[in-house]
Amino acid sequence: MLRAVARAPWSLCRPSAGLFVRMHSSVRAPKRILADRVAVVTGSTAGIGLAIARRLAQDGAHVVISSRKQQNVDRAVAALQGEGLSVTGTVCHVGKAEDRERLVATALEHWGGVDFLVCNAAVNPLVGSTLGASEQVWDKILSVNVKSPALLLSLLLPHMERRGSAAVVLVSSISAYMPHVELGAYNISKTALLGLTRTLALELAPRDIRVNCLVPGLIETDFSKVLHKNKAFWNLFKENQKLQRIGQPEDCAGLVAFLCSPDASYITGESIAVAGFSPRL
Ligand SMILES: NC(=O)c1ccc[n+]([C@@H]2O[C@H](COP(=O)([O-])OP(=O)(O)OC[C@H]3O[C@@H](n4cnc5c(N)ncnc54)[C@H](OP(=O)(O)O)[C@@H]3O)[C@@H](O)[C@H]2O)c1
Repeated sequence: MLRAVARAPWSLCRPSAGLFVRMHSSVRAPKRILADRVAVVTGSTAGIGLAIARRLAQDGAHVVISSRKQQNVDRAVAALQGEGLSVTGTVCHVGKAEDRERLVATALEHWGGVDFLVCNAAVNPLVGSTLGASEQVWDKILSVNVKSPALLLSLLLPHMERRGSAAVVLVSSISAYMPHVELGAYNISKTALLGLTRTLALELAPRDIRVNCLVPGLIETDFSKVLHKNKAFWNLFKENQKLQRIGQPEDCAGLVAFLCSPDASYITGESIAVAGFSPRL
């Protein structure tokens, strides 16, 4: 117990906390805010998804990790288990129906239900203009980025509504608000997620399921390398980005944990930018 208390965030701010615990050894550690709840996070073996999975597990949730490649799943599960976190994992390409079914089955088999779904996986197979996108590119972007969150949620719905106070977080992009000229069809898919958030929030409110949206700005991951390694882009970007730094995956994770927590119990249909500055009114 002593170790758990020493790790609690508030203990770091109170130099005398260790002494306090030793003197009152019957004092119990505060329950972590997501304790015993179950989270499914897609695209969670690297970048923003991995940071979200780690944070939800640090806050007490059992987390099901997933992505397309078995070796990435194995590596992420081993890393988080090595940190003492409660995670399991399975392969899930979110664009494949059989993989979505396996993801749901894995969560139910391990934890008996699901409280939170974070739809983080996305693709951008084309850097170029909207009208330069082939039908194949359109189908891939819309299928993975927009359709798959809805299809996965429809599978999970009966299990989530049974739990009470469930939450969904979709992951859009600042390019939904401020389209980037090189990211044509991707921009549009991310704008569609803002609409999906609001429609699902409306439809699922009577079932006690909240639906919100994380809107990351430029975050330092493999996915954004093509942008943040580009000096011309970075100079332009800094004009709109008032905090003058690139974001880190962990900058996004705290918001998702908050949106899943009881502290956000009256928030649904909302989109929140984690972008160093918000272009919204
Ligand atoms: N980084 C940014 O600046 C930024 C800005 C705005 C929005 N976003 C959004 O944030 C989310 C995460 O981006 P990121 O930057 O963290 O990306 P990342 O570092 O490239 O990580 C992507 C993760 O998703 C998995 N993945 C990729 N395609 C998948 C698929 N079809 N099905 C399931 N898993 C898949 C990858 O693992 P596998 O290879 O094993 O599948 C990996 O775990 C995306 O929705 C992206 O649009 C990112």
